[in-house]
Amino acid sequence: MSLESEVITVLKKLVDPLTHQDIVSAGILQGLQVSSSGKVTFILEISTAYMQQGLKLKEDAAALLKSLAEVKDIQITLTAQRKPKGQNQPKEGIRGVNYIIAIASGKGGVGKSTTAVNLAYGLQNMGLRIGILDGDVYGPSLPRLLGVSQKPTSDDGRIINPIVVNDLKCMSMGFMIDEKVPAVWRGPMIQNAFHQMLRQVSWGELDVLVVDLPPGTGDVQLTLAQSVLLSGAIIISTPQDLALIDARKGLEMFLKVSVPILGWVENMSYYLCPHCEGRSDIFEHGGVRKEAHALGIPFLAEIPLHMSIREASEKGMPIVKASPYSEEASVYKALAQKTWELLTKLS
Ligand SMILES: Nc1ncnc2c1ncn2[C@@H]1O[C@H](COP(=O)(O)OP(=O)(O)OP(=O)(O)O)[C@@H](O)[C@H]1O
Ligand SMILES: [Mg+2]
Repeated sequence: MSLESEVITVLKKLVDPLTHQDIVSAGILQGLQVSSSGKVTFILEISTAYMQQGLKLKEDAAALLKSLAEVKDIQITLTAQRKPKGQNQPKEGIRGVNYIIAIASGKGGVGKSTTAVNLAYGLQNMGLRIGILDGDVYGPSLPRLLGVSQKPTSDDGRIINPIVVNDLKCMSMGFMIDEKVPAVWRGPMIQNAFHQMLRQVSWGELDVLVVDLPPGTGDVQLTLAQSVLLSGAIIISTPQDLALIDARKGLEMFLKVSVPILGWVENMSYYLCPHCEGRSDIFEHGGVRKEAHALGIPFLAEIPLHMSIREASEKGMPIVKASPYSEEASVYKALAQKTWELLTKLS
């Protein structure tokens, strides 16, 4: 067997974290060169979504190659240029918008929208220019959470002006339709409505546009995740196991479309009593942190379950805006800080 064949055979023992195929079949091993003097060079094309696993892969590859006596020199370059197979659809950003991030979860009701609005205000609190888009065209919740009831206007009948609340630019299907009328949108129409809200809104200059995605990991979510150049996604889940299984599906969806996972947030992580401010771990908390650690994904925040968070949202004034110096608000502000650090690091 030639040295090159031997090298390929040992490298095939390594598994690509995304496709679960060996790294040669998965196509992430590129430009392999094996010289007669025993020098082996190649590139590992991984994704920023799993940098840590990429680093481990590189180490393991080097260790395996060292076991071959004829290999004298090893040079492995790690790049984050990976484009998954079958993804040729070009993604476009939005002019004037620096980063677009998605807030997602595998299942409904885990607090995506609540996190999205508080994160938006948290980022704004850092002096950044922020917009927020309600990606849920079936059950829009931004109008209620932000206390907005006016309809957006348009100067030319084509481009829509976002609603501006406390300097936050926002857009939701709920601004266009009566909240009581159920929107019966079919697949292509949903996509259309979402596209219009993304591209036919005069967002202006924004540092971050926060997109609150609808729950689940079906076709609708996948299309949304694919249709725009997302800088990254934040996955929200609650501590229960079942939610974690769903969250893993959410992670896989973003990995498939090559969107970096900025990190994972545990919502309703522990209970903060509004009377005594005592803390109780109602659910076995910490599961998300453990899981995130195992997968090499940043763990971003543990948000308490607190009456004031729900009450503030219901009044249309999210907690970060309503009581910016409360303990609950500080958790969201820290989340905003981490998110911004990750975004600027990624670029
Ligand atoms: N940390 C929290 N403390 C207290 N209540 C919370 C917290 N997070 C969310 N809630 C409440 O839980 C309910 C669901 O939250 P939210 O609407 O944000 O979830 P969602 O994931 O966006 O739901 P959907 O999947 O329906 O879009 C709301 O009543 C909200 O006020
Ligand atoms: Mg929601």
